[in-house]
Amino acid sequence: MGLAAVILAAGRGTRMKSATVKVLHRVGGRAMVEHVLSAVEEAGAQKTVLVVGQQGEQVMELLGSRVEYARQAEQLGTAHALMQAEAKLAGFTGDVLVVCGDTPLLRAPTLWELCRDHSRAGNAATVLTAIIPEPAGYGRVIRAADGGVQKIVEQKDASPGELAVREINTGVYCFRAAGLFSALSGLNADNAQGEYYLPDIIEHYVTRGRPMGAVVVNDPAEIAGVNDRCQLAAAEKVLRRRILEEIMLSGVTVLDPGNTYIDATVEIGRDTIIYPFTFIEGKSIIGENCTIGPYSRLSDAVLGHRVTVQNSVVLDSLVGDGCHVGPYAYIRPGCRLGREVKVGDFVELKKARLGDSAKVPHLSYVGDAEVGKAANVGAGTITCNYDGEKKSVTRIGDGAFIGSNTNLVAPVEVGAGAVTGAGSTITRDVPPGALGVARDKQKNIPGWTARKKPVSAGNNTE
Ligand code: UD1
Ligand code: CA
Repeated sequence: MGLAAVILAAGRGTRMKSATVKVLHRVGGRAMVEHVLSAVEEAGAQKTVLVVGQQGEQVMELLGSRVEYARQAEQLGTAHALMQAEAKLAGFTGDVLVVCGDTPLLRAPTLWELCRDHSRAGNAATVLTAIIPEPAGYGRVIRAADGGVQKIVEQKDASPGELAVREINTGVYCFRAAGLFSALSGLNADNAQGEYYLPDIIEHYVTRGRPMGAVVVNDPAEIAGVNDRCQLAAAEKVLRRRILEEIMLSGVTVLDPGNTYIDATVEIGRDTIIYPFTFIEGKSIIGENCTIGPYSRLSDAVLGHRVTVQNSVVLDSLVGDGCHVGPYAYIRPGCRLGREVKVGDFVELKKARLGDSAKVPHLSYVGDAEVGKAANVGAGTITCNYDGEKKSVTRIGDGAFIGSNTNLVAPVEVGAGAVTGAGSTITRDVPPGALGVARDKQKNIPGWTARKKPVSAGNNTE
């Protein structure tokens, strides 16, 4: 027995007006088809077949071997699409859950309940329906006098009486595998769109006396399909709210959920506080008791506990416990910050490793660099990592003190406990414990001002 799933995703999605396949458009930071796939996997599908169309390669690139693929060369309708999965399900004798790739709001428990009711009732087919105030565009569920489902009629084929029905087909079904594909091949395309409609299988089963059922979804918001960018934005809003609610209920404070954007893939620890206008994306993991935002963007960022990030951007980097980042810091990919590190205002880091308690408090560029424990990098320090051809590394030892406005011309090393004089351009290594100074000696010219401006001397407000 067991459960297999088929996701129909071969449609062209013309209303998206996009070069990207519809199901690859992202909501809540993930492609629509990934949301659907996670839901069917969580509902218990042991194997999933994805029916793709002409631009299937784009989808295959994203999902790889997580699913099996069937190709529908020509879009002849949803029943025809499902038929393409037959070879991949050869010999399978359990139930087949069928969903569309463009319904990213579907939840696993809904699918799981559908399949459970289906097998408990011993049905050959069970359709998930919804009762909605504005059914326009959906297939209508026509029930017999005894309440049993009789057939599904598409909008374009419906009579005025049928159009008034508010129970609609969600496009989600559970089928017993046995007999499914032979039934599909018995359907015809005699309808307004000249397509092979999957919903026609309901009437096909009913007339042959095969046991049929319908389950009404609890929350109709779950089944909304995305066909254009307006519906994409509507789905984004629902999903974002759902993600934030889950995060808040797990113990995270979100000051203003209307202005906070967190991907479904993100993990955040307890008692962390998120201030408004913050975006947390991708595989980011945030620890406990952190303070993030306002106005921050974290993408694939891994933060320890008690970290503060204010008005800053952190991309694909690790930030240790107790670090302070910002305001106005830009941490580019490949950085690793130890514990209690301070990266202050107008600091840019790239591929930099900073040891525990290191400080880069203001106005610096530190790239391709290793900064030791408790080292202090003064304001205005620049690692000159690029000579126009190649990138080179700067090493700063534990406890070193880099004077303000130092240029470190890489490759170069400042040893542990060493100091550089403010304003130095350091081109040679500074040994541990040494002072490196590389600048002209100051000279003072006595009486210069009086000679230059004899009349207005002392009055410089003009
Ligand atoms: C379909 C149902 C309708 C239901 C609605 C729910 C049919 C005929 N109608 O209508 O009863 O109310 O979903 O959202 O099934 N697809 C293919 N190959 C095709 C055609 C479609 O793979 O040849 C895929 C699409 O990519 C999409 C799904 O099937 O993921 C549904 O197709 P779509 O054209 O959006 O059907 P609807 O008109 O929405
Ligand atoms: Ca649709």
